[in-house]
Amino acid sequence: MTASNECQRRFEVAPGGALRGRLRVPGDKSVSHRAVMLAALADGVTEITGFLEGADSLATLAAFRSMGVRAEGPENGRLVVHGAGLHGLKPVEGALDLGNSGTSMRLLAGLLAGQRFASVLTGDLSLSRRPMRRVTDPLARMGARLDTTPAGTAPIGIHPVPALRGIHYEMPVASAQVKSSLLLAGLYAEGETCVTEPAPSRDHTERMLAAFGWPVQRDGSRVCVRGGGRLTAAPIAVPADISSAAFFLVGASIAPGSDLVLEQVGMNPTRTGVLNILRAMGADIAVEHARVLGGEPVADLRVRAAALRGIHIPEDQVPLAIDEFPALFIAAACADGETLLTGAAELRVKESDRIAVMADGLATLGVAVEPRADGIRIAGRGAAGMLGGGRIASHDDHRIAMAFAMAALRATAPIAIDDCDNVTTSFPGFAALAAGAGLGITEVAP
Ligand code: S3P
Repeated sequence: MTASNECQRRFEVAPGGALRGRLRVPGDKSVSHRAVMLAALADGVTEITGFLEGADSLATLAAFRSMGVRAEGPENGRLVVHGAGLHGLKPVEGALDLGNSGTSMRLLAGLLAGQRFASVLTGDLSLSRRPMRRVTDPLARMGARLDTTPAGTAPIGIHPVPALRGIHYEMPVASAQVKSSLLLAGLYAEGETCVTEPAPSRDHTERMLAAFGWPVQRDGSRVCVRGGGRLTAAPIAVPADISSAAFFLVGASIAPGSDLVLEQVGMNPTRTGVLNILRAMGADIAVEHARVLGGEPVADLRVRAAALRGIHIPEDQVPLAIDEFPALFIAAACADGETLLTGAAELRVKESDRIAVMADGLATLGVAVEPRADGIRIAGRGAAGMLGGGRIASHDDHRIAMAFAMAALRATAPIAIDDCDNVTTSFPGFAALAAGAGLGITEVAP
């Protein structure tokens, strides 16, 4: 366990309360990254609305600005990007610093592998510990020249090559970041680049490529693009991020008296594992006003408090809820009976080791947990049971911090969460929005 960093803000959350009212969580992080990337490479001007003004997607935007892409905003989620065209990016002196953002780094590794200039990608301490060979190895098979540290981590050096060639790649793990990295390299490759997924992962890259006029072939679990073509600017409306909504879905489910509507939440079926899992646990979530917004399905979600029960989480839901497990573990801690998660080893290489960090935090709140290599067993305190309070180390992981903030709704004593600066990577304004809905949260400045 690392000591808390006294330079960072922390959350102090009073026990009890309920979540009520209507709110819209910020724009989807995955869609926001891709919108900037494809808009930057397109011919024409793209207007993006609902853009996530969080540190991660702003890191992607800053990277493209430094490569010569002109953009106005973002202002109230509106960002206008003047596309430079597929071959219009300019080299940067020095490294592109992508902060905490794994999506920026892995997708840019593929996209920049096809450029005629060299680049270096760096990130913060957490990102510099995350595995990058999962993208650099298959990119090397396409003829790209990338180097990492001996441990396979950032910085990633990318060297220009005369040409990339398409490959057929069978991904060992379901990863949208790996799939997207290869498809973006595939735009620059000779011939066809195909990626086969062991299980469905989020398909925002495929949808947005199609929206920008680039043909994408999908055949079962295989998705292919052919190199050589152009992207044509298209307006993008970014839905509210279901991964951010997840904290409120869990909070309102576990807090008696809650009745909350989350507006315009992205309902892409490759992202709705959290709904399927919560419903299997007995959650009361109604899908209202389902519609399509800019090529992505969205809906308003009405969630009311419910008695949850523990389940064995179906493994096919794991990639569809991969970012929502910190929140789901809090739901499990408040459920009747045991919840078992298996087939989720990927959680160990996210912004933190989310199995270990959640297990430590839950144990602090008095919950019996048994972490496993690929998951966790959580003994729920019962549908009427309570959690304890205490001080939680977030390990600089935004989703850990927000998950434990929601746990306070069912705690008997305050919960303090250290090192919460990174909440801004995906959810700027979280504390204010949650407080407005009824969470007793205070952000304490360093
Ligand atoms: C993302 C894919 C997921 C997810 C990450 C965002 C994306 O990672 O955890 O937060 O935007 O493609 P993996 O593809 O590595 O599972």
